[in-house]
Parts: sequence; structure tokens; C-alpha cells
Amino acid sequence: MKTSKIFDHWLYVSFILFYSGTIFPNELFQFKGAVVTSNALATEAGEKILAEGGNAYDAATTISAMLSVVEPFASGLGGGAFWLIYDAKSKEYKMLDARETAPLQSHKNMYLDENENIIKNLSTLGPLSAGIPGIPAVLSYVNDKYGSKKLSTLLTPAYKAAINGFPVNERYLKGANYKKKWLKKYKETEAIFLDKGEVPKKGWILKQTDLAKTIKKIMKDGHKSFYTGSFAKKMLESVRNNGGIWSEEDLNRYKVLEREPVRSSYKGISIIAPGLPSSGGLVLSNALNILAGYELDKFSPTTQKHLIIEALRRAYYQRAIKMGDPDFMDESLEFLLTPSFAAKQRESINITYATDNQTLEFANPTYQGQGNDTTHFAVIDKFGNRVAVTQSINFWFGSAFVPKGTGILLNNEMDDFSIKPGTENGYGLIGYNANAVEPGKRMLSSMTPTFLESNKGFVILGTPGGSRIISMILLAALEWIDGGNAKSMVSLPRFHHQYHPDYVLYEEEAFMPNEINELESMGHILKKSNRQFGNMQIIMWDHKNNKIEIASDPRGKEKSREEIY
Ligand code: GLY
Repeated sequence: MKTSKIFDHWLYVSFILFYSGTIFPNELFQFKGAVVTSNALATEAGEKILAEGGNAYDAATTISAMLSVVEPFASGLGGGAFWLIYDAKSKEYKMLDARETAPLQSHKNMYLDENENIIKNLSTLGPLSAGIPGIPAVLSYVNDKYGSKKLSTLLTPAYKAAINGFPVNERYLKGANYKKKWLKKYKETEAIFLDKGEVPKKGWILKQTDLAKTIKKIMKDGHKSFYTGSFAKKMLESVRNNGGIWSEEDLNRYKVLEREPVRSSYKGISIIAPGLPSSGGLVLSNALNILAGYELDKFSPTTQKHLIIEALRRAYYQRAIKMGDPDFMDESLEFLLTPSFAAKQRESINITYATDNQTLEFANPTYQGQGNDTTHFAVIDKFGNRVAVTQSINFWFGSAFVPKGTGILLNNEMDDFSIKPGTENGYGLIGYNANAVEPGKRMLSSMTPTFLESNKGFVILGTPGGSRIISMILLAALEWIDGGNAKSMVSLPRFHHQYHPDYVLYEEEAFMPNEINELESMGHILKKSNRQFGNMQIIMWDHKNNKIEIASDPRGKEKSREEIY
């Protein structure tokens, strides 16, 4: 196993001593921390902050901003995020909710025509599909509350990357190719992200001059310069001229919310993951609670997979019918975390046969899978602070709309609402009233930055992948319980079931040929994905071997940490 260059033998000693709570002068130790992201430029920027004495919050602030610049197809200042934090000083776990909000003029039928049919692309393309961004606010929030360095220092790498440019990576080219038609829809967007209207060649330098100016403004005046004043007016004018409905009040009132994460346990491990409006914590915990009633390793590999699929079916079913922004819900969903509810859900699982979705209640049409958007990163510092962040603008290149002169590519997260009861969003997910569009509401998400802890150590993990994020985290957690390491967790072939549409989406190699036959004869509909899913990033602390391990998903096709150093 190799680790980043900022680790050495002392790290292992210092880290254990630190982790066990013993206080030692920092200068005794050479452990500066660890970073994992999907992008080498972002990783290096975060490591530099740690090496210069910054804490995990500082490094995470730099990385979030940097990813917003160097991977504009996946996330950005025009998007939202969930931060999961373990604060070593207070010993508290926190979730920061920087999810986008629906504009105040939005309403539940806003994407439907007079016959209540969905108007194509209205919730996915252009400014009407954009929620009010949360990332500029969360950067300031974290800096004010937890940071040790100035925001202007932390945003400098992002500013420099925007103004000087950087060579676009393979994933950029793939995304630009996939979304070329959308990128050409708006002149401002085309001028920034395409090369004279064409998908650039490898090595093309992407410069984002307007974005650099916007970052500079935030460096100087804080996030208020984004949500108020002349900059906000400039964004609003362009949004409204292009069919959007944002108002000054929408921007002025945007707030980061601190919430309690969902905590649960499964066979000796603790799981800490975000609560609503992320469905991640509840779906993950509910599915694991269902599986806790079985001794999985006593079953054949096929039956184990069958049981995982059935647990996911039920947990995602609860997502569809019950979940939304908790501030708009009357019903508490705490019951989803109880062993008694899991036992009740297990009663309907047949060990040899797939469940008919109709017996769970609702029915379904077809599913169009979406790309590998969104991004996840994690940081740990010498103080023991841990930060896991998943941030997104939803689809590749979000709404494809950049308000004139701002460089901010807006999200299309409004599509994560249930825009019509029981109809699919871009991830094939369905939802009902709990996730209907309402003014000021946060759309339900699947982003799941997660901590796993046990007497073996701990893992900080997360991944992009839309609705599939939660099943990817579940498979990785089971792999860890089975003795897997960070590398095997990120590399594991994946399969997914989300209740609706009623099939198992799987990566090649997720099932052996005999398992495919057996699962099909049990009544499962299997669909091989034509592309791999996820880009998982993991930092793992292993108590037994006194080692820290960092792993990036091989699917990311970025240089891994091992290749960089
Ligand atoms: N935009 C995808 C999600 O938040 O689940």
C-alpha cells in the first residue's frame, strides 16, 4: 500500500496516539492529514493547505472551490452540497445542508402543460431548471465557523485555476461531447466550454475569466457579494431574461442549515450519513437494517445478492413515497430506522423469489440512466477533524445556462423534485407529495457522504452517481465488513435496484454467468449498464495495521494518488 508523500512512518504512530485522544504537541508529529478527490489539481491544492498548517475545513473549502473550477461539468458555485463533519474538538458529528432551494415563485405544476403533461426539458435545461445555489454560502459558512485561514487565501487556488486556465481532462471531453447540443443552446455557455463551437481537443486550456472575477469578489467581500448587491442583480437579470423565475429575495434569504446526521448501526459498525433532504442516510440505514436480519455469509452468493436487491427495493420504495425536505413534512420518518420496521419489511421478502413491486403498491414505466456527474471528496487533518463532501450541479454541465458575465454554470437540480406525482426524473426515480415542488423547498437528493466506524477503524467515503449513490455506499460498507480495504471498496463491481423502475442495473462483472441465470429464474429483471457507474473516493483508517489508506475509484480515469506520488 502506498500513501501520499505527506505521510511517513511517524504518521502511523502520531495518528494512533492522536486518535486515541491523547494530546501531544503537534510538532512532534509529521502527520499533516490526508486528502482524496476525483481530480489531481484539487487534491494538490487541498494537500498544500494542510501542509501549510490549515485544518480539514480549510482544505475542504479550497477543494470545493477548486473542483468547481476544474470540473465544471460535475459541480460548481452554481450548485449545492452536503457536508458531513466530525469535529474533533467538540467530538460532534454534523451535517451541513447547502442544498439548492426552489425559487419563491415556483409551484407544483410549473413543469406541466395545461393538460398536466410534462413539458420536455423544462426541469432540466435552462434557468427555470435551476435551484438557488448553496455552494458559495457553505464555503463562507465553514470558513466563519470552523476555518483557521482567511477565505481569500483558501479560494486563491480556484481563482488562479480560473484565470490562468488548465488543460481539460478526459471526463471533461466526455461530458462536453455528451452535452454538446445543450452547451450550444446558450451563447455564453458555448463560448466558455466549447472551442469555437466544437468539443475541444485533449490538452485544450479552459480559461474562465468571468468565473475568476466572481471568485475574486467572494474572496474580497465574502459570499454576500454573490447573494446580494450588483452581482446578484446581474445574475437575476440574465436568469429572468431567459425564462427563469429567481428573485432578489430568493438569493438574499438563502441559508446553509446545520442538521443532525442519521446514525445507525449494522453488525458492529456505526453508520453516519446525511439526513433529509438527502435520502442517503435513511435509505442506507433502512436497507442495512433489513439485511441485519440475515446471516448473509450463510447464503450462496446469488441469494446474498437477491437479499441486497430486495432490501434496496424496499428502502427506495420508502424514499419514493415518503421522503422530501424535512422542513415541509409533518411526518417524522424516524420509524424507518427502527429494527421493528425492518423486521416488518423482511416479512414480505421471499428468499427464493423476487418481490412483485405491485405488492408494494405502485407501478412503473421506463428509465433513462444518467451520466457520471456530481463529485465527492474527503479530508482528514492532524487534529482528527474529518470532512466528507458531495457536491453537484445535477446532470453533466447542469442546466447548461451561465448568467451573462458571471461565469457561474447553474445547476438543474429542480429535476430532483417530483415534478409530477409518480413520473420519473432524470434518474428514473419517482416521488410524490413529500417531494413536490414548493417555494423555498429543498429537493430530495441521493448524495451520501458517509462515515463508517467500528473497532477496526473508520472509513470516510462517498461517490457521485445520482440515484445509485446509496446502493454503491451500501455495497462498499458490506465489503468493508467482509474484510475489504479501500481499494477493493472503490473497485467493487456494482449493481443497483431503486424500486422503480423494477430492474437490477448492473456493471459487467457484478454477476457471474450462473448468478445471472439464477437471479433471472428468481424473477429479477437484469439490465447490464452500458457504462460503469460512480467515482468513489475513500480515506480509511485501519486500527489493526495502524495505517491510513486512500483510494480513488478506477472508474474516475484520473491519475490515482499512487500514480501522482
Ligand atoms: N442531483 C442528484 C442528487 O442530488 O441526488
